[in-house]
Amino acid sequence: MEVLNQEIGERFAAYNADCVEFSQSLPDNSIDFTVYSPPFSNIYTYSDSERDMGNVEDDAAFFENYRYMVREKLRITRPGRLTAIHVKDIPYHQGSSERGDSGLRPFSDLCTQVHREEGWSFHCRITIWRDPVLERGKTNAHGLLRKTRRADASFCRVGMPEYLMIYRKWATEETAHMVKPISNPNYPTELWQQEASPVWDGETIWNYRLGQSGKGDYDLRATEVLNVKAAKDEEAIKHLCPMPLNVTRRALTLWSAPDDVVFSPFMGIGSEGWESLRAGRRFIGTELKGSYYDTAVVNLREAAAAGEGPDIFADSSAMESTA
Ligand SMILES: C[S@@+](CC[C@H](N)C(=O)[O-])C[C@H]1O[C@@H](n2cnc3c(N)ncnc32)[C@H](O)[C@@H]1O
Repeated sequence: MEVLNQEIGERFAAYNADCVEFSQSLPDNSIDFTVYSPPFSNIYTYSDSERDMGNVEDDAAFFENYRYMVREKLRITRPGRLTAIHVKDIPYHQGSSERGDSGLRPFSDLCTQVHREEGWSFHCRITIWRDPVLERGKTNAHGLLRKTRRADASFCRVGMPEYLMIYRKWATEETAHMVKPISNPNYPTELWQQEASPVWDGETIWNYRLGQSGKGDYDLRATEVLNVKAAKDEEAIKHLCPMPLNVTRRALTLWSAPDDVVFSPFMGIGSEGWESLRAGRRFIGTELKGSYYDTAVVNLREAAAAGEGPDIFADSSAMESTA
């Protein structure tokens, strides 16, 4: 296996390497939770490496490669545990369509299909609310324009949310003894109402600093991501699409336990690792692109030095009084 660089800390290990090749070296059933954003098919090519999963012609070629990661992920995941992937569907335009139509490539559904084909069970889908007004401002999408609404509403569409797709590896009779329940004895009932919402938005997503509900923080991506600027490469920064920290944090606190080993095969600048360490988990990450890997290491060192943030379940009465 080709590892171009590596950094091993007390509670994290980061590798500048291909995620599939690296995963093949991990033991069976050794990872407690996997959370990441994969490259969104061929939307952006991160590097000219043929191992870059974004460096493909179309969805079929993307899924042919990504399938290997999904397969390895099942093998290395502890029975009874989950994987959470952050994705969105992809609009296409008349100019790029063979049929001369426009519409959406159902990327989130294709991810579910490949996970199910590789042996995962579809556990749930969370919709992450995104502001259609901001989207219209950024993309000028025909389906979101007021003039489209006036001229021919049959072309109107709704804004594009993001999704957190959750899949589960079920235990078998032979592996049942490896199941490790995620129990939270101090769990405040009030949180359930927020966590169980199928839509996470600025109103419902909570912040682990007690009492800061995140209210009004609608554009979660703009306000709660790691500082990408340190990654130097301007073009690459524009397209990185860092995983929102608050979404990652909620997923981690829901579906992993303290000291669990969390893996991100596509760690970028280290967002999932940052949140894992701050939540008292251990972290393993792989990233192919050298400049992102370097930034991830800086971020992981910083998170490790800062140590664990406050336990969100430690004082449920404080949560109740500030909720
Ligand atoms: C959507 S970005 C992930 C961003 C990350 N969640 C963050 O917050 O920084 C996808 C990442 O996958 C990386 N990548 C693509 N193919 C890869 C491969 N075969 N092995 C490891 N990383 C890969 C890209 O370089 C890119 O950084």
